[in-house]
Amino acid sequence: MDVDVRLTEMTPDDVRQIDTGADFDRYARGWHCLGLADSFRGGRPHSVDAFGTRIVIFEDGAGAIRVLDAYCRHMGADLGMGSLRDGFLACPFHGWQWDGATGRCADVPYAKRRPKLARTRRWTTSEVNGQLLVWHDVENQAPDPAWLPPTIEGFDEGRWSTWAWRSELIEGSHCREIVDNNVDMAHFFYIHHAYPTYFANVIDGHTASQLMHSKSREDIFGDSKYYHPDSLLRSEATYFGPAYMINWLHNDIGSGGTVEVVLTNAHYPVTQNSFVLQWGVAVQKMPGLSDAQMSRMAEAFSAKFSEGFLEDVEVWRHKTRIDNPLLTEEDGPVYQQRRWYEQFYVDRAAVTPDMTDRYECEIDVTHARGEWDEEIRRNMVERQRLASIGVH
Ligand code: FES
Ligand SMILES: [Fe+2]
Repeated sequence: MDVDVRLTEMTPDDVRQIDTGADFDRYARGWHCLGLADSFRGGRPHSVDAFGTRIVIFEDGAGAIRVLDAYCRHMGADLGMGSLRDGFLACPFHGWQWDGATGRCADVPYAKRRPKLARTRRWTTSEVNGQLLVWHDVENQAPDPAWLPPTIEGFDEGRWSTWAWRSELIEGSHCREIVDNNVDMAHFFYIHHAYPTYFANVIDGHTASQLMHSKSREDIFGDSKYYHPDSLLRSEATYFGPAYMINWLHNDIGSGGTVEVVLTNAHYPVTQNSFVLQWGVAVQKMPGLSDAQMSRMAEAFSAKFSEGFLEDVEVWRHKTRIDNPLLTEEDGPVYQQRRWYEQFYVDRAAVTPDMTDRYECEIDVTHARGEWDEEIRRNMVERQRLASIGVH
């Protein structure tokens, strides 16, 4: 049998090696959204697996939403299986009662005295835009007030629809994968079937933004009743910290109108290799449309974004982690953004200016557009050919 000696003699030097990196040694410092605040109200505690442990979320007697470690400090039961007693969270196993405001054990009903220092971990929370956020910090320090994500203008005044909210557990991937998306211009064409005509990133302090204009693709959406050749999506998206993004989407719909949509893209880690991705869509109310119609419109947008998120998920489920991606000029500042992302994984004292300094970058899409126009033209010819023989 002939063997091609050139192949067998090929040295590893000829081959680009993938560096799959090492696991992160902690979870990120920052605000993480756990879901819509209202979903945690009512008299029932909710356990959530997050940050490598389990936490419990409940509404206390004063109407505040509280978060504690779920595992009871007495014998380790899950407080999420417990119940509310006099505003305290009572453990299902032996009835110890925990105070959500302080983390202290408020009562051990069967004991003459409760352990004086009995206290569990209490998590700092905030409610923004109708969502429950929890602060995670291995150094256990209070959040810098400037890090709290902003209120969406008019949201608290009722000028937006309710959130159409969805979530998905992603297993086998670190949440850095979704953050990488922020600078990944080209995947919008290949994965999401969009057509970026403008793409820029601005990294600054604890924020990382993406500005994108994109057109609708006739070869993909040409048959849709929503397709319009002049429609343009102007998107401004900002990560406020490691895990919470607001995406303002101005949809110019071709007939002179603009539909204002806001998308929350948030996640929290479950383990170092899994996370829960959440996306919520709200639409700015428009004259002449009822609240129910607005909510339906938000649902329709959400269904569309769901397709997009799930396209990413499908890639993550099969890809490897890669710490040394091989990039072209059009790929965007993956390394710079990862450097920015590192600030959330080190102690405050170890944060360096290259992680937080302002950095701006615009991708030149001229070459890509020439290629994409040609690809779309070819796809259209193929579609017409198939249509002419009756295949749709
Ligand atoms: S384990 Fe919670 S009261 Fe015993
Ligand atoms: Fe994506």
